[in-house]
Amino acid sequence: MRWSGNLEPVFYASWVSLILLPLIKLYVPVEAIRAHVDLFATHKVPTGPALFQEAPAFRNGIHCLPSSVDKSEAESVCDATAVHIAMTLDAVYLRGSMAAILSIVQHSDCPENLIFHFLVSHGDVELKTLLRNTFPYLRFKVYYFDVKLVKDLISASVRQDLEQPLNYARSYLAEILETCIQRVIYLDSDLIVVDDIAKLWGTSLGSHTLGAPEYCHVNFTKYFTPSFWSNSTLASTFETRIACYFNTGVMVIDLTKWRQQNYTRRIEMWMEIQKEKRIYELGSLPPFLLVFAGFVEPIEHRWNQHGLGGDNAMGSCRHLHPGPVSLLHWSGKGKPWLRLDSGHPCPIDSLWAPYDLFIKTKYADE
Ligand SMILES: *[C@@H]1O[C@H](CO)[C@@H](O)[C@H](O)[C@H]1NC(C)=O
Ligand SMILES: *[C@@H]1O[C@H](CO)[C@@H](O)[C@H](O)[C@H]1NC(C)=O
Ligand SMILES: *[C@@H]1O[C@H](CO)[C@@H](O)[C@H](O)[C@H]1NC(C)=O
Repeated sequence: MRWSGNLEPVFYASWVSLILLPLIKLYVPVEAIRAHVDLFATHKVPTGPALFQEAPAFRNGIHCLPSSVDKSEAESVCDATAVHIAMTLDAVYLRGSMAAILSIVQHSDCPENLIFHFLVSHGDVELKTLLRNTFPYLRFKVYYFDVKLVKDLISASVRQDLEQPLNYARSYLAEILETCIQRVIYLDSDLIVVDDIAKLWGTSLGSHTLGAPEYCHVNFTKYFTPSFWSNSTLASTFETRIACYFNTGVMVIDLTKWRQQNYTRRIEMWMEIQKEKRIYELGSLPPFLLVFAGFVEPIEHRWNQHGLGGDNAMGSCRHLHPGPVSLLHWSGKGKPWLRLDSGHPCPIDSLWAPYDLFIKTKYADE
């Protein structure tokens, strides 16, 4: 983020509100505290007072292409010079999403040239208001993802959170986003970006539709059930390709190619087989592996240091992998905001904490 000299009043106004916030929150009524608790207990979308601090203004550096903030929303959403980022938004991961957004704009050289596309399954009006209040300068559009699209295609899986229909929204980006958008970066909500996202945006996809960091040493056996491997037709899916694992939490997608090749339909076909035969245990990842593994443009590993949430069974702490880091991803069971609140964080969680905009109400426990 660059502070340009002539924007100092904005800068100071943000600082003043940051300094005043601890005072303001002393006057939050009891109902609001209860609303905080309810929000995370019942997955309701907040409607009451702000739960998140207002993020400071973020402005383009002088070398940035002029952004089209003055144009109408439709034109602005289609801005071909912009970096388009898609994320889902729901009450359970809202705190993570807010931190992710802040980390992205804060490390961006040209933050005004970012356009966010948020997919929600309910409470779109409330979430839009909340986003606008937290990030008054953010360019974004909220899209409604109709969970009925996938409800019938989802089968029971090991981890209940993977059954959240919004997890499948990433398969429908090509349909949901405006057709004028030709490329998008999809990001999960349990991550922070500590580098300029424009570098990821600028990655070449070669002839491929999808780019992601690949892990070619991963044994695919465990991702699919015996009923997959014992059916020779199904098992042969990976025979003619060098299939590498990739995490679907960070993907660069060529939406034009995706639409032309009907990849959504291909993913749905695997989901239909899954319903009938149970060929895998996890939720939204295996169909992506089935369709794309072996046809992915490899992106530098620094763009998805995943698994920081820890082991599914143990809830154990993880450390960063060696090498440079541009994006930290708390995939796995543990989430940094929950561990920080519990008073037993993992060491790595201290890297997430500075991006937390959630207004903590210490006196709520008293
Ligand atoms: C992958 O794992 C399975 C069992 O989990 C094992 O039988 C198989 O040999 C492994 N494949 C490779 C290439 O290591
Ligand atoms: C393998 O699975 C496919 C897709 O469900 C099915 O059409 C085919 O009959 C199965 N083959 C065998 C040998 O069971
Ligand atoms: C994609 O699907 C649409 C509608 O189902 C169809 O008209 C089109 O021909 C398909 N395109 C390809 C490349 O398969």
